[in-house]
Amino acid sequence: MWGLSGCEFLTGSLRAALRTGYMNQMSAPIRIPDGFVDELKARIRPSEVIGRKVKLKKQGKEWVGLSPFTNEKTPSFYVNDQKKIFKCFSSGIGGDVISFVMETERLSFMEAVEKLADEAGMALPKATPESQEQYDRRLRLIGASEAAAAFYEERLRSAEGAEARRYLEGRGLKPGSWGKYRLGYSPDDWRKTFEHLRSKGFSQSEIVEAGLAVEKDGGGDPYDRFRGRLMFPIEDARGQVIAFGGRALEPDAKPKYLNSSDTPLFHKSRVLYRYKPAREAFGGTDEGGLIVCEGYMDVIALCEAGFGHAVAPLGTALTEEQLGLLWRAGPEPVLCFDGDRAGLGAANRSIERALPGLQPGRSVFFCLLSDGMDPDDLIRERGPGAMGKLLESALPLVEVLWRRERDAEAVDTPERQAGLEQRLMQAASAIQHSAVKSAYERELKARMRDYLWQMRAAGRGSGRAPLRGDKPLDASLRGGAPAKTRGLGLIVRAVDHHHLAEIGFEALAVADLPDPDVSAIRDALISQNTADSGVDRKGLSDHLDSLGKSRAAELLTTYPDTPQIAPGGPEEREWLIALEQYARPEGTDGSGRNSGEAFATPEDARFRHRLVSERRARTARLNEAAEKADQE
Ligand code: UTP
Ligand code: MN
Repeated sequence: MWGLSGCEFLTGSLRAALRTGYMNQMSAPIRIPDGFVDELKARIRPSEVIGRKVKLKKQGKEWVGLSPFTNEKTPSFYVNDQKKIFKCFSSGIGGDVISFVMETERLSFMEAVEKLADEAGMALPKATPESQEQYDRRLRLIGASEAAAAFYEERLRSAEGAEARRYLEGRGLKPGSWGKYRLGYSPDDWRKTFEHLRSKGFSQSEIVEAGLAVEKDGGGDPYDRFRGRLMFPIEDARGQVIAFGGRALEPDAKPKYLNSSDTPLFHKSRVLYRYKPAREAFGGTDEGGLIVCEGYMDVIALCEAGFGHAVAPLGTALTEEQLGLLWRAGPEPVLCFDGDRAGLGAANRSIERALPGLQPGRSVFFCLLSDGMDPDDLIRERGPGAMGKLLESALPLVEVLWRRERDAEAVDTPERQAGLEQRLMQAASAIQHSAVKSAYERELKARMRDYLWQMRAAGRGSGRAPLRGDKPLDASLRGGAPAKTRGLGLIVRAVDHHHLAEIGFEALAVADLPDPDVSAIRDALISQNTADSGVDRKGLSDHLDSLGKSRAAELLTTYPDTPQIAPGGPEEREWLIALEQYARPEGTDGSGRNSGEAFATPEDARFRHRLVSERRARTARLNEAAEKADQE
């Protein structure tokens, strides 16, 4: 029924493997012969493997079940044993049994093949002579890097490491933790490291190829690349040393950090610093993701503060391959950036990188630090607790994207408004997953509509939108909207979509709404809702009128149509997150600055967690009920 051959799906899973960056990072000696994967798939009945994860029912030639990728209530997930494929119509995900295992168990292509081959009793193919040779060479280079790391570690503890030791202690890193990061010191000498590695049996070409020594132009004696620096070994996904970062000890030495150049072992765009231990520390949960910061010292400071699941790219903006690595570890990594201009630029580049790869439940969050601080500074000055709170209040991608476009230019003319819409839709068009793309389009349009409406409602100079240079107002679903009607959009949505009032009931009830009329609408909604008469705008505004609250009634009836908000969907989640803003007791903006802007307060974060867990409980109850109904 889908007219796709198994062969196309093979390339599909290969493409997925490349996308995750794993093929690039792996170093196995195996080059799988072309026929192997085909034979593996021929031996496996997809419904059997998939049936272990998804309850399947036979329907004609196919098997049908509830999508494991979405929260659907009616089955739209199909498996076809003849064609050896599955297709999930609610998420758009489809492929062969290998891609199914990759998607659901977050394995790489190779890991999935290994697992399935094992189950099917097929031995993985032996290496070819060329790949064996390459592999052996690689092992030698890793050996040289490991030997260098050990040498640097030993030097740190020797007499010549005294200055580096003082430096580390000065930065608050006690000797007890140096070993954990394999910190070292490269002697301030042109040949010491080279000579040491030669004495360990590595050839000149191996030492040079591993990036540890540099050959002068036109031959001549090689000299050590790293001299007089604090050394940070960089490991691959298996924990083997493949490169180094070296920090100068003097405050104004240039460059401050020197990294290994790309070598046959190391491609900086495909590696994250401390990826393996971070993945292990993060564990197998399906929530959240790794923390990404900018520097080695930030990763170490986070780790020391109890955030062992922190990684960093190596001095470049996050690449697509690195995002692939992050998503293999957890669905929602948090990217930390300095709140300064450079940090915002980097955050923006990450938005562009992340958009194409978004999937249901798979995104990135942003944590924007302020006052020119990095996580290392923040932890030192305010402690691990402050860092934790900041991480909890990380902003979803859609929010950062929206703010970026909203604030790029004034929207005081129809032409500029069209410009904003065009920029928003352009950004959304980068999303490959169709359901996520349309969710973004809906969300961004709704935010824009609210925003423009709010500016008119603000009554500034007869509906004039702010001119360029005016501080932009925020959408009604966010803080910063005009105080007069703050929260109105949020409440109207709950009136229009009953499930919102239901799931957010408690939070709505305690929301801090400065406008007495908005608050009156909320009170009416809550009282009418518990009375269990089907509330709608008309009924509520009549009720408000009867109470003599005619402005409240008018606010309610004149508010523009609200967008579709599906129960359990991303818009519902957005709404809940927006609702959290109104839980803030007055005058307790935890950051003590930027009142109402960038960050939620600790109270908010806790509140959000409660909302989310409430929602999870509700979804679980619904699923349970659906399952029961299914069995009857
Ligand atoms: P930062 O300068 O922000 O690092 O550079 P940092 O960790 O805060 O530095 P200190 O030690 O606390 O002062 C972030 C990352 O950018 C790369 C390194 O990977 C560094 O960890 N970088 C920085 C370079 O590659 N070269 C440089 O000269 C500076
Ligand atoms: Mn720093």
